[in-house]
Amino acid sequence: MKKIVTIIGARPQFVKAAVISRLIKEKYSNEITEYLVHTGQHYDANMSDIFFDEMKIPKPDLNLEVGSGSHGKMTGLMLQKIEEVLLEQKPDALLIYGDTNSTLAGALAASKILIPVVHIEAGLRSYNMAMPEEQNRILSDHVSTLLLCPTQTAIDNLKREGITKGVSLTGDVMFDASIFYRTLENTNSLLPKLPEDFFLATIHRAENTDSKERLTNIVRALNDCGKNGVLPLHPRTKKYLDMYGLTFNKNIMLIDPVGYFDMLELEAKANMIVTDSGGVQKEAYFFNKPCVTLRDQTEWVETVEAGWNKIVGSEYNDILDAISNFVPPQAHPDLYGDGNSGDKIVKELLKLWNSAI
Ligand code: UD1
Ligand code: UDP
Repeated sequence: MKKIVTIIGARPQFVKAAVISRLIKEKYSNEITEYLVHTGQHYDANMSDIFFDEMKIPKPDLNLEVGSGSHGKMTGLMLQKIEEVLLEQKPDALLIYGDTNSTLAGALAASKILIPVVHIEAGLRSYNMAMPEEQNRILSDHVSTLLLCPTQTAIDNLKREGITKGVSLTGDVMFDASIFYRTLENTNSLLPKLPEDFFLATIHRAENTDSKERLTNIVRALNDCGKNGVLPLHPRTKKYLDMYGLTFNKNIMLIDPVGYFDMLELEAKANMIVTDSGGVQKEAYFFNKPCVTLRDQTEWVETVEAGWNKIVGSEYNDILDAISNFVPPQAHPDLYGDGNSGDKIVKELLKLWNSAI
């Protein structure tokens, strides 16, 4: 029996762990035991607990309760606490997801004490080093033993940085999640009555919220676009809207962050998605919805190349134009695997151990 310690802490990681942790528990419990550590980076009930309750993710074995703070404070606290867990648990590998501060803290803590790091969603690059996520991804990839890539682009990115060992193409676990959870009934919806015709919007990226100019342009464009929008508001964005004194007009329905089932329902019912989220750009594609991305570049370049994602940044006119006029093509190729990435990932993990014997 092999043991992994898994580090999660932020909302998108709960969605990804919902696939892998459930799979390990239901299908691979004779071979792998998982010790699940929640760093506490996200802690509001609707940013954390709701995902564990609704998605039947195994409850974390430990919550480090690190909470919010500056990058250094948050990452440093996590690093110290994760190291203690690793020394006590002595796992055969450490599993991390994506590109958050929780990801980086896990990667550093494990690699320094020579515990193999397994990175799910490895190889993504925006080529914008000002993004905290880009720094987290690059640093995590460079200390990882197993790099599990959702796309060929990610593999090519790693190759350009000289990383070829331990790299494999698995497809995207978020695609697995969307397929699996879409078939289940949304029995505890907290959604209000939705407009007939609306676009779904999410905004939380630091480059947008922390810039008064960018956030002002985005709010003005959504207010002036002449269409109805529904916007589940990330707490970070709420904080900055209040700080800058920015408000939305009546055409934008602000709601609290929603659970995954409600989010899937919003994505399915929306006629367009306007977002700066990484995960939501992909989900727009999974749901065949045109996506307008409020960023200057994306890691999910395949969606742009396929013509389903329009990168508009934060320019008022570009956002207005895309919301009114962006129409994707008919063709919608499979970009993110066959929905069995979770299984491929766990098999790669088992292979790593078998080859080490
Ligand atoms: C983090 C990740 C980002 C990811 C996002 C997913 C980093 C550097 N960023 O950004 O890559 O896309 O999660 O949502 O790791 N807050 C609350 N309640 C919570 C959580 C956060 O009020 O439960 C507020 C706090 O004011 C906090 C702010 O949101 O300071 C930002 O939280 P933080 O975890 O630092 O970063 P995110 O913007 O959520
Ligand atoms: N999500 C959710 N409720 C919300 C907003 C997002 O369940 O109110 C889900 C979304 O469907 C996706 C994931 O959270 O699966 C994406 O997380 P987020 O946008 O916070 O982070 P990113 O992907 O940009 O890192």
